[in-house]
Amino acid sequence: MKSIPVLLLGCGGVGRQLSDHIVACRSLHSKQGIALRVVGICDSRSLLAVNDIVNLELKDDLLKEICKIKSSGSSLSSLMDLGQCQIFKDSEARKKVIDIASLLGRSTAGLVLADCSASSETVELLKQGIDLGCCIVLANKKPLTSKIEEFDKLTSDFRHIRFESTVGVCRLFICTCTLI
Ligand SMILES: NC(=O)c1ccc[n+]([C@@H]2O[C@H](COP(=O)([O-])OP(=O)(O)OC[C@H]3O[C@@H](n4cnc5c(N)ncnc54)[C@H](OP(=O)(O)O)[C@@H]3O)[C@@H](O)[C@H]2O)c1
Repeated sequence: MKSIPVLLLGCGGVGRQLSDHIVACRSLHSKQGIALRVVGICDSRSLLAVNDIVNLELKDDLLKEICKIKSSGSSLSSLMDLGQCQIFKDSEARKKVIDIASLLGRSTAGLVLADCSASSETVELLKQGIDLGCCIVLANKKPLTSKIEEFDKLTSDFRHIRFESTVGVCRLFICTCTLI
């Protein structure tokens, strides 16, 4: 079984749907010999991450609880039972994401940074993630649509990036990625 660490940036409509999908597809993934191990999830202010990044994951029940809390409009920090997880806020949260990327990016398992935010603020973090060997997956179009230098940097190795976009009524699959 290949275990693939994933860190979700954003848990709005798209991030929650992705989290639900990961949980719903466990048995399918298992048949394909993979397991997506969600090690952390961010909103605009906070990161919830497992204490032991190398061995632990956010349990499916906790992922469901996170989705419930975020869909009610509350912040990640309102979670009551954190189990083997910790909350990081603001600059500490950004620093922790980089620490996780440094630890896992070039490991055998690697790290997928899945940007489901609706922000251009993630671009610096994604660029650092690329330098640290992470793979990035974008639902968020903003990092690819600002400066050409940023586009070039993020797409410098096409094996490390997947994105897709919807234009008008046509679905233009520049490069499709499902995490499956
Ligand atoms: N590719 C496509 O075809 C397609 C289709 C639909 C949507 N999208 C894109 O998918 C993205 C998400 O859409 P959505 O509807 O889920 O948006 P949304 O409901 O507004 O959720 C955005 C999430 O990102 C979080 N966030 C904001 N800034 C952040 C940051 N700097 N770091 C980490 N997380 C941050 C927000 O945190 P808070 O909860 O604290 O506000 C929220 O959880 C958008 O960019 C949208 O354009 C793409």
